[in-house]
Amino acid sequence: MKLISEEKAMLAGEQGKATQKAMEILVALGTIYDAECLVPVTSVQIAGVSYDNLGEAGLYFLTEMEQGGGKARVLTTLNPAGMDIENWQALGIEAEFAEKQNLVIEAFARMNVITNCTCTPYLTGNVPHFGEHIAWAESSAVCYANSVLGARSNREGGPSALAAALTGRTPAYGMHLEENRKPQITFEVGADLNENDDFGALGKVVGEKLQSMEGVSIPYVQGVGGATLESLKSFSASLATYGGTALFHMEDITPEAGQFKPPENSIEISQGELISAKAEMTDGDASNADFVSLGCPHLSIKEIARIAELLEGKQVVKEFWITTGRPTKQIADRMGYTETIEASGAKFAADTCCVVAPIKGRFTALVTDSAKACYYASGKNQFQTILKPFDDVVYAAIGEENAK
Ligand code: F3S
Repeated sequence: MKLISEEKAMLAGEQGKATQKAMEILVALGTIYDAECLVPVTSVQIAGVSYDNLGEAGLYFLTEMEQGGGKARVLTTLNPAGMDIENWQALGIEAEFAEKQNLVIEAFARMNVITNCTCTPYLTGNVPHFGEHIAWAESSAVCYANSVLGARSNREGGPSALAAALTGRTPAYGMHLEENRKPQITFEVGADLNENDDFGALGKVVGEKLQSMEGVSIPYVQGVGGATLESLKSFSASLATYGGTALFHMEDITPEAGQFKPPENSIEISQGELISAKAEMTDGDASNADFVSLGCPHLSIKEIARIAELLEGKQVVKEFWITTGRPTKQIADRMGYTETIEASGAKFAADTCCVVAPIKGRFTALVTDSAKACYYASGKNQFQTILKPFDDVVYAAIGEENAK
């Protein structure tokens, strides 16, 4: 791999131990993927922030990088942590866990990483523009950034994203190269798509079909009449989860779609397939569930406003977590949404989510509108899952009989 003189200096240790280690990680990664060079990045998003995932080994690595003088050179934010950093007690998080989680956050802060912990950085100020090279790690955000914003990112691991932050570079391979961004197969959608759970089900169906085709990972999606920011974040999360996909093109919706002709090999997606996909993610009855959560990926302020509207004057009868980024929560505070939501007994879980928080064993069944949450809540936390449209998730928290 060709390195320019500054990169060679970093690799030789002339800019400190942490920068040297970071450059070693990038050179190793670039060598594996046959990258010719490194490309400068303008934005980084680091995953592997929850102490529940990192453990002592991860904390040790971060401490080593921080003590080695590591400093982020570009705008860098974090994926969700294992707790609401300001209000972890309300979520039943153990003090011992909170102490470790805070050490993780403090280590990042000392490396000049902005400790905004969210999987929707594009809603809270880390917003790349079209064509910008970035190094993000959260799979749903990578898919959204590539597809909806037209930025260029591979799906980074925690260490490689940190390495990109500390050097301002990433190896030029994969999604950074124009020739790798062409659609490979067309999906013609013949189904109604309205709510987040519809788009999540579509992501599952498309993703699973892609998984069964060797060497095909970039879909061109036709027949989606319209899509909101919220439905595209839901689709991105589901497609990345079930298909490992980092980029999709959606006719008349995503910015690169117009550059390509739809590939001739084409698959139709029917209404029946979406109904089956939803049934596969639903294991039980919402009335028997003991946990309700919205915000996978993290909620937009528009979604929080809707929750507040539905909860006005009501009381929840189940543990209900509203997960979002801290800046979005602060807007909710200012608008009075937080007061309305908390008066109902629902809880904000800012900075975290129902998957990365250490809650395995605390609940048995989760009601959500997120196809991605269904996958991880059943896989990681072994919860039963019940997939519902957004408003119905709120009704499940209130208790159907109290909802109307
Ligand atoms: Fe975000 Fe957690 Fe879902 S990180 S995408 S809310 S699993």
